[in-house]
Amino acid sequence: MRVTGPEGLCDVPDSGHAEAGMYQAIGGVPPQEQDTTVESTLMSRPALTIDITPPDPDAPQALALTAQPARSIRTWRPGRLPVAPGPLIGREWELSAIRHSLLSDDVRLLTLWGPAGIGKTRMALAVCADEELGRAFKDDIVFVDLAPVREPSNVMAAIAEAFGFGDASNPLLLDEVASPLSHRQVLLVLDNFEHVLEFAPQLAQLLVSCPSLKVLATSRAALRLRWEHAFPIPPLPVPYRTLPNDAQSAAAYAGVAMFVERARAARPDFQLTDANASVVADLCARLDGLPLALELAAARTQGLPLLVLLKRLDDRLALLQSGAPDLPARQQTLRRALTWSYDLLDADQQKLFRRLAVFVEGFSPEAAEAVCAEPGSEIDVLEGLSTLVHHSLLRLEETADGEARYSMLATIRDYGLEHLARSDEAEEIRIVGTRASRMARAPGAGAR
Ligand SMILES: Nc1ncnc2c1ncn2[C@@H]1O[C@H](COP(=O)(O)OP(=O)(O)OP(=O)(O)O)[C@@H](O)[C@H]1O
Ligand SMILES: [Mg+2]
Repeated sequence: MRVTGPEGLCDVPDSGHAEAGMYQAIGGVPPQEQDTTVESTLMSRPALTIDITPPDPDAPQALALTAQPARSIRTWRPGRLPVAPGPLIGREWELSAIRHSLLSDDVRLLTLWGPAGIGKTRMALAVCADEELGRAFKDDIVFVDLAPVREPSNVMAAIAEAFGFGDASNPLLLDEVASPLSHRQVLLVLDNFEHVLEFAPQLAQLLVSCPSLKVLATSRAALRLRWEHAFPIPPLPVPYRTLPNDAQSAAAYAGVAMFVERARAARPDFQLTDANASVVADLCARLDGLPLALELAAARTQGLPLLVLLKRLDDRLALLQSGAPDLPARQQTLRRALTWSYDLLDADQQKLFRRLAVFVEGFSPEAAEAVCAEPGSEIDVLEGLSTLVHHSLLRLEETADGEARYSMLATIRDYGLEHLARSDEAEEIRIVGTRASRMARAPGAGAR
C-alpha cells in the first residue's frame, strides 16, 4: 500500500499510481501487483442498470408473445455478443478469478465493479468469449447493454427482448422470462447497471425463480443484494515507484502495453523504444493505469509528441477528449465519463465529493470528517464516504494494522477539483484548504 503521507492541500493533480487494491471481495491480490498494492477493502455493493438491446434482425422470435421451448437460445441469435475492438491486454489473473467465481456453486450474481473506464465491459466481453465458461453455460450467454434503458421498470422488458421472448407489456413479465430459463445453464450479462439500481430486487426474484441462471453485472456502483459477490476491477498495472528505462521492462506493465497498442492503432509508426520507455511509462503512471484514460491519451499521440503530452497532463480532463466516434458517447471524454457517475449522486454527496478532491495523497476518515463536516449540516461524512466508495469515486484501502485510508484516482480527483472551482464555493475552498493543511501538519498526520 501507499503509506504516504500527510493530507496536503494542493490544486495540482497528483501523479498518482495505479494500485490494484480491491481484491478483498474475492480474496486475493494479483501476483503481478503484490509489491505495489495494499490489501484492500472495498466492501460496498453494486447496483443495477438498464438496456434496450437493439432487436436482432436475425431473430424472428424476438417479438414472440409466448415463451419459447427449451432449446439453445444462442443458435437463434448468432453474433449476439458484442465484439471487442482489440485484444484484451493483461487481466489474466482477473479473468481466471472471475471464471473460478462463476463456476462456483455459491456464486449466482457476480458484479464487476469499478469506476468509469476501468475496463468492466471489456472484462465482461472476455468472460463471454471464454471457452470454459461457454461450455459451462451451454444453453446460452446473453449480453444486455443497459446503458440505453432509462427506467428501471424497463429492464425486465430489455432482458426478455434480449432472450427473444416475452411480451414487454405483460405485467407478468418476470414469470414469462423466468419460466423458460428456470432450468437452463444460462449466463445473463447485464452491462452498465449503475443507473438502474432500483431494478435489483427484481433481479433477485429472477435468481430465485431460475436456479440455474447466473448473472454477471458490470456497474460503477454495487447492487447491494445479498446474492451479490462484488469483484472490484483494478486499474491496469503501471510502474509505481521507479520508472523503467528500457522498452522491454516498460512493456511488461499491462498499462504500458495497452497504451502502446492503442498508440500504434492511432499511429502505425509509433514504437516503444529504450529512448522513450520512461516517458511512456511516466505518462501511463500519471493516468493511474485507467484504461479509458490510456486509450484517450494514446489517440492524442497522432498529433502531439510524447513529451508535450506528458507536460499537458496537468490538465488531464481537457487533454483526454479525443475519443474515437465508435466509443459510447459517455466515454468520448473523461469528463463525460465521470459526469455520468457524478449525476447519480445527490447534492450533498456531490458536495462531499468535490471537497474531498483537495486531498492530494489520500486521507483518513478522521481527516475527511475534520475537513468536510459542517456545523448544522445534514451531511454525515462517514456515510458519505461509504456512498462514494459504493459509486467507485473513492477507493478504500486498509493497512495490515487495520488503518483505513481513502484515495481517488488522479483523473477522478481532477474532476472533483474542477467542480469545486466552479461551484460558488470559493470561500469554502479556502476553509477546506486551511483545514486540510492543518490536518496535514498535525502530529501523527503522516500515519493517517
Ligand atoms: N484490458 C484491456 N485491454 C484492452 N483494452 C481495454 C482493456 N480494458 C479496457 N480497455 C478499453 O478501454 C476502454 C474503457 O474500457 P470499458 O469500456 O470496459 O470501461 P468500463 O469500466 O466498462 O467503463 P464504463 O463505466 O464507462 O462503462 C474501452 O475502449 C476498452 O475496450
Ligand atoms: Mg462499461
